Amino acid sequence: MARNKVTVIGAGNVGATTAQRIAEAGLADVVLVDIVEGLPQGKGLDLAEAAPVVGHDARVIGTNDYADTAGSDIIVVTSGLARQPGMSRDDLLAKNAGIVKAVVSASAPLSPNAVIIVVTNPLDAMCHVAMQASGFPRERVLGMAGVLDSARFRTFIAQELGVSVEDTHAFVLGGHGDTMVPLPRYSTVAGIPITELLPKERIDAIAKRTADGGAEITKLVGTSAWYAPGLAAAQMVECILKDKKKIEPCSVYLQGEYGIHDLFVGVPVKLGKNGVEQIVQITLNAEEQAALQKSANAVKELVDVLRPQLPK
Ligand SMILES: NC(=O)c1ccc[n+]([C@@H]2O[C@H](COP(=O)([O-])OP(=O)(O)OC[C@H]3O[C@@H](n4cnc5c(N)ncnc54)[C@H](O)[C@@H]3O)[C@@H](O)[C@H]2O)c1
Repeated sequence: MARNKVTVIGAGNVGATTAQRIAEAGLADVVLVDIVEGLPQGKGLDLAEAAPVVGHDARVIGTNDYADTAGSDIIVVTSGLARQPGMSRDDLLAKNAGIVKAVVSASAPLSPNAVIIVVTNPLDAMCHVAMQASGFPRERVLGMAGVLDSARFRTFIAQELGVSVEDTHAFVLGGHGDTMVPLPRYSTVAGIPITELLPKERIDAIAKRTADGGAEITKLVGTSAWYAPGLAAAQMVECILKDKKKIEPCSVYLQGEYGIHDLFVGVPVKLGKNGVEQIVQITLNAEEQAALQKSANAVKELVDVLRPQLPK
């Protein structure tokens, strides 16, 4: 049986980490693509040479030629500019929209049955570009943000309570931006809601640190994070290739769910071999629903700016 094939577009920090994780986990053969000549070839070779040490047989190649990506099961889009200190995700809007449109238009026709996972920021707006450039149905275009944001929330919960990260579960909904909505009521330690374990002011502080999680690392390193983002994208790849049907927060195109229409916003979804197999609707209280709507409005503002340049 042929191994699965995953194309990762963008051989920068996030793309290379995603490729590394997919290959090391033996999930699929990986084609790493970049516009810079030599970069994907070099990183692909380096990753291939790690295979005997790790003990996996996944084939990793780097290329500038989209023909090599044909027949991929999944396309992960990480190409684009990363945030610099002081830069918001939204500053990246126009530049990255052009890049995402170009790479999806080049890759999607060669892999017409693929699931596209978008990572490039501003995330939710870039999902719109990818869906329109590919013409794929909404089940097969989704964005990676919630898996990372909830991993950050879980990290801080575990640190605060001195418990294993494995015991934590967390949900972060909304757009991947400053208006994201951590949901303490649905965030648990060994099944116990954190609202039972921590005072409100500590939960608020952790939620704020989660929402500022990307900026905190950008300030320290000088560019945006890549280890946790790359792993989060690879985890979504694993859910799809292994048909795991895990419930993960992902950016998906809502058509009335949560009262939101025609916008990519992060909500819990069931991830399986068909991509988004179900949008899971959890009950939100008035405050949570208002925060989600505010976050959706922030996504809409960006999409409205982009509309004139979105493919018809
Ligand atoms: N969704 C998230 O949670 C999340 C988390 C981290 C980073 N990001 C975003 O992911 C993107 C990548 O971040 P990074 O740190 O890997 O950046 P990076 O600069 O390290 O890598 C980006 C790569 O994209 C390539 N590229 C640019 N234009 C291209 C094109 N037209 N075709 C092919 N390749 C092209 C560049 O040459 C570069 O190698 C950024 O937009 C960043 O903001 C998102």
